[in-house]
Amino acid sequence: MKRLYGLFRRQGLKRRQHCTRGYLGLELSGEIMNDIRSYYDAETKLGPDRSVLDAKDTSGKKNRYITRLRDRAILDALDKTPPASRILDFGCGSGNLSMVLDKEGYCIVGVDVSFDILRHTKDHQFNNGGLFLQYDGQQLPISSNSLDVCVTYAVLGHFVDLALLRLISKEILRVLKPGGKVVLVEQTCRKSVIKSKNLKIIRSVKEYVQILSESGFRNRGNIIIRRGHFPLIYLIRYGFIPARIFPYIARLESLWGRVFGQPYFDYADTVFVAEKPSDSGLSCKEQYVS
Ligand SMILES: C[S@@+](CC[C@H](N)C(=O)[O-])C[C@H]1O[C@@H](n2cnc3c(N)ncnc32)[C@H](O)[C@@H]1O
Repeated sequence: MKRLYGLFRRQGLKRRQHCTRGYLGLELSGEIMNDIRSYYDAETKLGPDRSVLDAKDTSGKKNRYITRLRDRAILDALDKTPPASRILDFGCGSGNLSMVLDKEGYCIVGVDVSFDILRHTKDHQFNNGGLFLQYDGQQLPISSNSLDVCVTYAVLGHFVDLALLRLISKEILRVLKPGGKVVLVEQTCRKSVIKSKNLKIIRSVKEYVQILSESGFRNRGNIIIRRGHFPLIYLIRYGFIPARIFPYIARLESLWGRVFGQPYFDYADTVFVAEKPSDSGLSCKEQYVS
């Protein structure tokens, strides 16, 4: 128990929260938040990948490809972030991305609204004391100016309510140290569209950029890494392409995104990088500097 308190203090946590190493329940704020939590709680039984990515991918091949693409994109964006930096994995789900970052030597604090999904994090071995918490969907249980980076993959699209998205964006800014960096990956399209029975919204790149800058971040650029319904994804899903070819296809897909930009009638996965302003900001990789 003492060790746990120490861990909370070291990770800059404000107070005890519902954590996967055994704490009390939390009330979530708002009906939508409860719906999202119930949705992901129910998906937990599908396993660590299907519960948070494509639930229909029974073979696991498509999800394996997508996680590789996700991990590569985020590690690229984290370029020059020194090992042992403290990283918030916002909406960490089953902790798959957290595990990859832990292997790179980063110290992870993961938060999510679904406690059941967080149970999957117990299956991973974290060498740098990974800590996983359920929170109320509004206020991060983390001290101000305490973390170096925040990464978030496919989470902000669940903030259908713009006011709540603004609020959480400011929360992320609050917990980052001056010069800290946020790397977010979200589906984007030309015009905002609500999906999945109001549980998800696909916003435009412009909207995300605007929200980040209104919250106080300095935008460092964005880049498309994947297009919805990329033709080769079907060959991957049905096992016609061996896993060793995945990295080449991922590169081809990113290149395609760069050349053709945001599709007219479909979504794309876009990586956004922004900084909390300070004189001693972390440097970003050149491709992200706008
Ligand atoms: C599509 S999954 C992505 C999970 C994870 N980021 C990954 O890369 O595997 C979306 C996750 O966001 C979480 N989530 C949804 N709304 C959230 C919120 N308001 N705050 C934190 N997490 C949220 C869900 O519980 C779910 O685990």
